[in-house]
Amino acid sequence: MEDIEDMEDAADGFIALDGLEKVFDVRRRVGAFRREKRRVRAVDGISFRVARGEMVGYIGPNGAGKSTTIKMLTGILTPSGGRVRVAGIDPSRERARLASRIGVVFGQRTTLWWDLPLIDSYRLAQRMYRVPDARYRANLERCVELLDLGALLDVPVRQLSLGQRMRGDIAAALLHDPDVLYLDEPTIGLDVISKAKVREFLRDLNAEHGTTVLLTTHDLQDIEQLCGRVMVIDHGRLLYDGPPAGLHEVGGSERTLVVDLERETAPIELPDVPDVRVVRVEGPRQYLAFPATGSAAPLVARVAAAYPLVDLSVREPDIETVIAKMYVEGATVPEDRTTV
Ligand SMILES: Nc1ncnc2c1ncn2[C@@H]1O[C@H](COP(=O)(O)OP(=O)(O)O)[C@@H](O)[C@H]1O
Ligand SMILES: [Mg+2]
Repeated sequence: MEDIEDMEDAADGFIALDGLEKVFDVRRRVGAFRREKRRVRAVDGISFRVARGEMVGYIGPNGAGKSTTIKMLTGILTPSGGRVRVAGIDPSRERARLASRIGVVFGQRTTLWWDLPLIDSYRLAQRMYRVPDARYRANLERCVELLDLGALLDVPVRQLSLGQRMRGDIAAALLHDPDVLYLDEPTIGLDVISKAKVREFLRDLNAEHGTTVLLTTHDLQDIEQLCGRVMVIDHGRLLYDGPPAGLHEVGGSERTLVVDLERETAPIELPDVPDVRVVRVEGPRQYLAFPATGSAAPLVARVAAAYPLVDLSVREPDIETVIAKMYVEGATVPEDRTTV
């Protein structure tokens, strides 16, 4: 039995879920005396495989079941049904053995010691994971350099900004050289510069160390910049599994070009540019919707040539809109990837 399980460690089933389920029984007070029992199917039969070295996005609206999935992949939660293996290990049965193979970052909760200098959390992590001194020093040095932590090591965690703390948390998750890194909303609440730093670090980590990364996020740009593959879940079910570009094709989603003109004018008209329309006018600012599958460059060039521009920016569609459109379009999951 053990041999069969270990075989999964190799090929495309490094992370393997088959019909995974998690049901929560929630008691809710109704009126003064009555309590109502309600079942929440947080994860409702999810199957997928992630190959070693892949970097995969796992996205969906609030309450979709993303964190619950991650908790089952770490062994924090025991599944109600189905099967899960990570590096051939059943996470909830062998949580301690799995711990040396995985790193976890929860964006909304730190694993660092609040009152201690950052470096103390790392020393504790070294002891907890029994990381040999030389390896610990090498890993720490790399993280400190790439995540720009040098000046922060002696600062108590409570004094760090959110972006600094997140970088600190990512380093803590990597000191024991895990094969898999789960990140649950690592860019939530971060400013643009911090986001860029985190993204660059993750890209390098995946490219140079072949670390398998499962990334949960609300930010479609995280996915577009980092992941060749994205899975979308909602109500505990997989709605889509494929390349990020396909996400927009399936949902027919749009990006928005925000144009600031020198003065108020009638809505912009570009008869020769297909699939563009003005969706809002606010004084000299106009909003043009265009298909998210295409490039903004030709549109920008045409607007700039025909109108007096002060400034412009492109807004990405948010996840909620993309998913809403998926339902409308009756999106399906490509059959070769899942058994949903
Ligand atoms: N410990 C819990 N007890 C009861 N319900 C829970 C618990 N954890 C999550 N849920 C419910 O399960 C669903 C999925 O939650 P979650 O996995 O946290 O979603 P996401 O991370 O995608 O926002 C939600 O309806 C949430 O309220
Ligand atoms: Mg969550």
